[in-house]
Amino acid sequence: MSESALVLENVVKTYGDFHAVNDVSFSVPVGSVYGFLGPNGAGKTTSIRMILEIIKPTSGSISVLGSNALAVRDRIGYLPEEKGLYKKMKTWAVIAYFATLKGVPKKKAKAVAYELLERYGLADFADKKTEALSKGMGQKVQVLSSIAHEPEFVILDEPFSGLDPVNQQVMEEVIQDLAKKGTTVIFSTHVMAHAERICERIVLLAKGRKIFDGSIADARKTIPRRVKIRSGGDFAPVAELEGVVSMDRQQEDTESVPTYDIQIADGFDPQLILKLCFDKSLPLETFEQSDPTLHDVFVHLVGPEAREASFR
Ligand SMILES: Nc1ncnc2c1ncn2[C@@H]1O[C@H](COP(=O)(O)OP(=O)(O)OP(=O)(O)O)[C@@H](O)[C@H]1O
Ligand SMILES: [Mg+2]
Repeated sequence: MSESALVLENVVKTYGDFHAVNDVSFSVPVGSVYGFLGPNGAGKTTSIRMILEIIKPTSGSISVLGSNALAVRDRIGYLPEEKGLYKKMKTWAVIAYFATLKGVPKKKAKAVAYELLERYGLADFADKKTEALSKGMGQKVQVLSSIAHEPEFVILDEPFSGLDPVNQQVMEEVIQDLAKKGTTVIFSTHVMAHAERICERIVLLAKGRKIFDGSIADARKTIPRRVKIRSGGDFAPVAELEGVVSMDRQQEDTESVPTYDIQIADGFDPQLILKLCFDKSLPLETFEQSDPTLHDVFVHLVGPEAREASFR
């Protein structure tokens, strides 16, 4: 078993009789990139704050780099949910300042700050005060401030929020570059596409509870794979194929061409349906094979809870 950068065991956080985090356990192996997902109010920030020892769990235990976050603070990088920078400081100086707080010598901190700003497209702002930065740029700078001391373990609360598509991509690069160096990363988001591109594994929370923990591939397996066909042929033989779980025929009116929504088992090759169509000379208007995205998984697993939670 690989070593864990983070272990949560039966962590609970209550406010009065409300469970913000309800019996959550998971571990993050050293060197992995973990997505911490869940709808608004799921308990992500509350969990992250407990991990950082900003707030205390009501019960349960948390281990960070085999210790607690305060004892290993110089080895951790943290981007909080509420963002903001010292406005009157120069951009490079903010990054360097945070690095020195975590033990990096001043000269090195300055060099690293310039290097990071150059690497992630902010070189032109290095010598400007941070008040000259747009919101998204400021957020990038804050992320760079949280990683300039080259921490082993980086915890980012909503690093993508408020960024335009290009800068979202830059943020993905920041995380991927950390991963390449062997840094352990956990980041929260509700945008599944980011997680899909850059994580090996995800933890999904809803209403304070963990509802999924595993690889992206396993997450996709939680919802059925589907094939959609539009055809005027007789599709009864398709339903007989082993691996076809169900077939739902829909027809708007007697004039229109029917569509078949076919649910297939994991491991079933949808090409077998195509082959059968050709063998039996069944006419095909469309053949659409769609593997579920992480977004579909999210909506499937937390859809009802997410809506309920928003009315709490
Ligand atoms: N100090 C507090 N007192 C009472 N309730 C709280 C407190 N902090 C958080 N909560 C509640 O705990 C739940 C989880 O909040 P949290 O901020 O952890 O959610 P989140 O998953 O980070 O959501 P978002 O995606 O909106 O950032 C919410 O219902 C919130 O109202
Ligand atoms: Mg949050």
